Amino acid sequence: MQVIDIHNHFFPRAWPDLAKRYGTPDWPWIKHTETGKADIMVGDRFFRHIYSACWDPEVRLAEMDRDGVDLQVISATPVLFAYDRPVEHALDCACLFNDAALDLCSHGNDRLKSLCQVPLQDIDAACKELSRCMRAGHLGVQIGNHVGEKNLDDPGIVTFLHHCADEGAAVLVHPWDMLGQSRMPKYMMPWTVGMPAETQLAVVAMILGGAFDKLPRNLRICFAHGGGSFAFLLGRLENAWHRHPVAHGVCQLPPSRYLDRFFVDSAVFDERALQFLVGTMGTDRVMLGSDYPFPLGEERIGSLIRESQLPQPAKAKLLGGNAAGFLKVNGAKAAAQGENPAARTTHSPIVPAAEQLTYSSYLRVPELLELQHPQSSPEHHDELLFIIVHQTYELWFKELLHDLDAVLANLRKAGGNPNSRDEVYEAARLLRRCTEITRVLVEQFTILETMLPTHFQAFRGNLEPASGFQSEQFRELEFLCGLKDEKMLRYHKPTPGAHAQLERRLREPSLHDVFFGALAAMGKLPTPTDGATEQERFDARARAILALYKDEVHHRDWIDVCERLTEFDELVVSWRLRHIQLVERTIGVRMGTGGSTGSSYLKLTLDKKFFPELWEARTLLTE
Ligand code: HEM
Repeated sequence: MQVIDIHNHFFPRAWPDLAKRYGTPDWPWIKHTETGKADIMVGDRFFRHIYSACWDPEVRLAEMDRDGVDLQVISATPVLFAYDRPVEHALDCACLFNDAALDLCSHGNDRLKSLCQVPLQDIDAACKELSRCMRAGHLGVQIGNHVGEKNLDDPGIVTFLHHCADEGAAVLVHPWDMLGQSRMPKYMMPWTVGMPAETQLAVVAMILGGAFDKLPRNLRICFAHGGGSFAFLLGRLENAWHRHPVAHGVCQLPPSRYLDRFFVDSAVFDERALQFLVGTMGTDRVMLGSDYPFPLGEERIGSLIRESQLPQPAKAKLLGGNAAGFLKVNGAKAAAQGENPAARTTHSPIVPAAEQLTYSSYLRVPELLELQHPQSSPEHHDELLFIIVHQTYELWFKELLHDLDAVLANLRKAGGNPNSRDEVYEAARLLRRCTEITRVLVEQFTILETMLPTHFQAFRGNLEPASGFQSEQFRELEFLCGLKDEKMLRYHKPTPGAHAQLERRLREPSLHDVFFGALAAMGKLPTPTDGATEQERFDARARAILALYKDEVHHRDWIDVCERLTEFDELVVSWRLRHIQLVERTIGVRMGTGGSTGSSYLKLTLDKKFFPELWEARTLLTE
């Protein structure tokens, strides 16, 4: 297991007198006090005690060995950002420290890498310096969480972040220049109170300001100190977003839907906080960050994660697995070692350059194959099958949602334009894909039936309380098609993102609503009278279907849609039935891990239909 610390700092042993160099006061300088110790001063003001780990690679490597750290990604300290200085001075200062960082890394036995800093008050200069640094071997950039009055959703900063994505630069956002300092003159409150608030502000500004909607998904961005107070107050933000239009900002989705767009580090110093952070962000989004070797850093790097109660696979991700992906360390290694990947390809086309698209990079095969984490110990042979079968179901559920959303959009358009048939044909074509996928999903249970019930029992105990009830996408499919049961939301309380998505599906018109809405818009379904009962409305919808079938010559296209919807309904019932058979074959009539009565509960779901009117029309036809 590789251990990578993505958030720690350095200071060179010495640097030029910046106040003299730029002719302006109050620049940081280093005052060596005794062997191996120094103070950072800002002008004539004391800023921080530091020690030789900041500048001496041997001391640093020895402490990394002591703490079992394989790789550290060093960055300068925000006090050097100089965003409020003239751009030429900030750029020159950035160059000095960026080159000093590379110099320190060059003595790090390939175990030290670096993030650069840029003059973010000038976007062109910042982009240029970032590109220079990426070519020189930095893995990315550390930026402050704001530039004066500008938050990270500022259009210029969004442009810079776009450039980071294009350059493949990892971004670490560090709080600085804390708000409300006049009320926090003592007790390190700017660090303990101001910094977490600043970081939360940065994340919230990016979400509500629509920055994540504009930025590409391949931007790798991480917020320091566990993302500050963001995770803990996400519920508050979400509540405001749903209940007060003024709190919406300009983002397209509820805030909790953006959690897969960024990372946070683990510098929260308390196991309960770490557990909460992982619970909110997910195990893929938290990375070891120590703030070493500063006074508020983790004393034994990685001990919080190592000594936590998190399962071993989660620890492995937090300690290094996630950071390896975040930093793309393998590709960067080649660049840092002076290899030219492009040149390599000319000699050996089979080994592509790091950036060149391959089968495996396009399909994310390495990441995909990393996603199976059996819980049994020693690992039970069949648990891998159990995980992979469920994962393939979830992938197909994703495709079904994708296609059914498109079916819904086509039917909506068809209703608005009765003379055009294209949308009706397209809806029927996509529905056919949905039925074919569902047919595969019914069949797939047989693979799981090759597992003996005794073998399942051997690891079932490790799965509680995870349950199929918590399949967000399955429930989303039901809600999307029109089977909406708000009570089922309770199973998604532990995952706010899924909960919010399901709430959205509950509110939105379903496929059922849109299908009958289209018939009504085309005059095929009479508007119900005001006092009509639910039963009368249902009968009217069934009769409208009957009328379509009776006038086949004029409605072949819509009949085709009806047939596909009926078949889909039928196949989903087959899925439910095969699932029950699998359940009984594996655990008999035992209770489920989700707390239901197991197969007897599941049998009650067999009567569920998405489009009961299509079935009722058949009864009416034979009347
Ligand atoms: C050995 C294999 C399996 C067993 C023993 C099993 C057992 C159960 C049980 C007992 C329930 C009822 C809820 C509860 O109390 O937990 C359930 C629900 C569910 N299971 Fe499975 N299951 C198995 C495989 C699968 C597979 C492969 C999938 C594929 C996605 C799946 C998806 C679901 C879904 C979506 C529900 C919720 C159904 C609903 O609420 O209508 N299950 N499962």
